[in-house]
Amino acid sequence: MTETLTNIPEAYKIKSLLHQTTYLVDGELKQWQGATTEIYSTISSTETYEPTLLGTIPQLGETEALEALNSATTAYNNGQGLWPTMKVEARIACLEKFVKQMKTKRDEVVKLLMWEIGKTLPDSQKEFDRTVDYIYDTIEAYKDLDRDAARFEKNSGVYAHIRRGPLGVVLCLGPYNYPLNETFCLLIPALIMGNTAIFKPAKLGVLLLSPLLEAFQNSFPKGVVNVVYGRGRVLAAPIMKSGKVDVLALIGNSTSANALQSQHPKGNRLRMVLGLEAKNPAIVLPDADLDLAVEECIAGTLSFNGQRCTALKVLYVHESIVEEFNRRFAYKVDQLKFANPWDEGAKLTPLPETDKPAYIQELISDATDKGAKVLNTKGGQTSENFIFPAVLYPVAKGMRVFEEEQFGPVIPVVPFSDIEEPLNDMAASDYGQQVSLFGKNVTTLAPLIDALVNLVCRVNLNSSCQRGPDVYPFTGRKDSAVATLSVTDALRSFSIRTFVASKDNAYNNAILNELLDQKASNFISTDYIL
Ligand code: G3H
Repeated sequence: MTETLTNIPEAYKIKSLLHQTTYLVDGELKQWQGATTEIYSTISSTETYEPTLLGTIPQLGETEALEALNSATTAYNNGQGLWPTMKVEARIACLEKFVKQMKTKRDEVVKLLMWEIGKTLPDSQKEFDRTVDYIYDTIEAYKDLDRDAARFEKNSGVYAHIRRGPLGVVLCLGPYNYPLNETFCLLIPALIMGNTAIFKPAKLGVLLLSPLLEAFQNSFPKGVVNVVYGRGRVLAAPIMKSGKVDVLALIGNSTSANALQSQHPKGNRLRMVLGLEAKNPAIVLPDADLDLAVEECIAGTLSFNGQRCTALKVLYVHESIVEEFNRRFAYKVDQLKFANPWDEGAKLTPLPETDKPAYIQELISDATDKGAKVLNTKGGQTSENFIFPAVLYPVAKGMRVFEEEQFGPVIPVVPFSDIEEPLNDMAASDYGQQVSLFGKNVTTLAPLIDALVNLVCRVNLNSSCQRGPDVYPFTGRKDSAVATLSVTDALRSFSIRTFVASKDNAYNNAILNELLDQKASNFISTDYIL
């Protein structure tokens, strides 16, 4: 395995450091004079391996966290602020202004995505483009929602004008594996619905937001978007303890979500929109097309080195075909190219978390101590910033890799003889996001599908698990999610139904007509946005 790869194309070389010296609060990019944190890439730029310094970010404290909270609450102003009461067209215009500027920053953001989190060039480009599409799709979905609400209804002698209104102040915390896309999939719908936000980037994948800060500053009214840098414990805890947060929007793990939730003193005020961990299984039935199953399981387990919440994290293979599956699968894993993100054909890339190779090694050692074998030749080979994916077989309950969400390159294969075995394991699991089901015979598949849809929220037939296309609902049961995200569902998750009702009588109707004629209210309006 090539360990230090220094053939860096000119366009992707780090020629100067990026020092993020400001943070965004109250519509101002405030200079920070205090302590800073150095941001390193685990990718080396030198022949002898050493992490590459990329730049620095402010290490803000509680005072700045509360300053950001104050900025967001002032902008929301108990629902009376400019942003939550603004006309739909005007909010859309702000989003359009933002995305127009964002598109000009593609190259900078993509380069930083590669350096900061080691995502391949095509996947980094995809993450950027997918996010831009998501913003445009959100704008269209919002227009649809608004058009559907541009009318009165009447029941039992009461007129009602029903819309979806904002919830208030949103604390938005994104993950390192999709630091742009997943974060914006929370932030953008939250904003368009009229909420104000405090956004703290993840611990990795931070600098890539710097090229977008000015666009945030100049596209939205002051205080609507606030961006703070620093440790989650230092910044998020005082914000939650204030009791002034209305929505916790977090993509991460359930332990931090639970901790943050418990810090909020008013449980019923706090809504949660959470995308959490998962242990998505693949179930390979005896009649599965093995080549297809192997191909999909490779993509499912190892895209972005397995660092996806939707990754396949355990493979259940029927005992009658497991030997052949393992042979083909282990061979294919060893064919995958480990290289730097910009290298042609790179499939596996440096891991951004410095402690990840050692953690994966622990899982491998634990499994092999308990009777599993590493099936592929390269499995477990380690360099300074990587550990080659090991295919472990046979994996069973009691091994750490069976229980823990590895979020990295190691693949447990569990043989089964009775379909009840994976079904029972799924029912007992703390997670319930998705499953991949490989097979052909509809008599076998039908009852299985009917059971699986009640254990998880997406059954992928003969295909790997994934979030996209983003118009589809992305959610999970148990510790895997709270609320549903998709272009349209996210608009619902970040809003609440609120309406104006009036008894049908001449007095009220005259007032309603006048409100409509004068176009004096932004809420009571039957105008359509096309
Ligand atoms: O990390 C979890 C992501 O939502 C996965 O998205 O399936 O498109 O890679 P993806």
